[in-house]
Amino acid sequence: MQSPILKESQSGFPSDARPMPQELLLSPQLQSERLTLRAPETADAHAIAHLANNINVASKLSRMPHPYTVADAANFIARVASGAMGKCVYAVTRTDNRAFLGGCALEETDGGRGLEIGYWLGEPYWNRGLATEAAQTLIDHGFHTFGADYIDGRCRVMNTASRRVLQKCGFQFQGTGMASSLALGGRVAVEWFRLDRKTWDSLRHWGGAR
Ligand SMILES: CC(C)(COP(=O)(O)OP(=O)(O)OC[C@H]1O[C@@H](n2cnc3c(N)ncnc32)[C@H](O)[C@@H]1OP(=O)(O)O)[C@@H](O)C(=O)NCCC(=O)NCCS
Repeated sequence: MQSPILKESQSGFPSDARPMPQELLLSPQLQSERLTLRAPETADAHAIAHLANNINVASKLSRMPHPYTVADAANFIARVASGAMGKCVYAVTRTDNRAFLGGCALEETDGGRGLEIGYWLGEPYWNRGLATEAAQTLIDHGFHTFGADYIDGRCRVMNTASRRVLQKCGFQFQGTGMASSLALGGRVAVEWFRLDRKTWDSLRHWGGAR
C-alpha cells in the first residue's frame, strides 16, 4: 500500500506542532492515495444502507443498528450534517470512481485530551488495505488538527482484522473490557489500544507500519 499521508500534512506542519483544540468546520475533505474522505451526502443513503445492512459489519460496531435501512442512513447523514455526531465523521470513498465504501470517525474523549477512532467498510471491500489507509489518513488529520495527546481504538476480541488495522497504525495494546453492541443487544468483550502523539510522530511517514 502506498503512503496515505495527508496532503495537508505534507505541506509543512512542524512535527511537534501542538495546536490548541479548536472548532472545526464539519468534515474537511481528506485525501490519500486511493481514498477521499468526505462528509456523507444525501446521495450516499442507498449505498450506506446496502453496505451497512450486514450483520458481519454491524456486530463489530457498538452503535450500528441491525437491520439497517435507507431511513437509518438518511437519519445518520442528517445528524452528521447538523453536527450532532461531532466534527469528524467521514464517508470513505474511492477517489477514482467515487464509490462509497464505508465510514470512519474520530470522537473527542476525556475533555479533548483524547480521541477515539472508529471505522467500517462494506464487506466487498475488505482485505485490500483500505481501512488501514483510511485510518492512517484520519489519524494524521486528528493529531494535526486536534490538541489530543492520544487516539484510542477498541475492537471486539474476535475482530482480527480490526486489531490488525490498529497494529498497522502503531496502536499499542492497553487492556480488555466490555462494550455495548446495539446490533447484538448486549455487551461484548473488547480490546483497547492506544496510539500516543509521540509514537505517531515517530511513525508519521508510516514506512515502518506497513
Ligand atoms: C475491520 C475492517 C474495517 C478492516 O478493513 P480492511 O480494509 O479489510 O482492513 P485492511 O485490509 O487495511 O487490513 C486488514 C488486515 O487484517 C488481516 N485479516 C483480515 N481478516 C483476518 C483474519 N480472519 N485473520 C487474520 N488476519 C486477518 C488482513 O490480512 C490485513 O492484514 P495484513 O495487511 O497484515 O495482511 C473491516 O473488516 C470491517 O469493516 N469490518 C466490520 C466493521 C469493523 O470491524 N469495524 C472496526 C470496529 S473496531
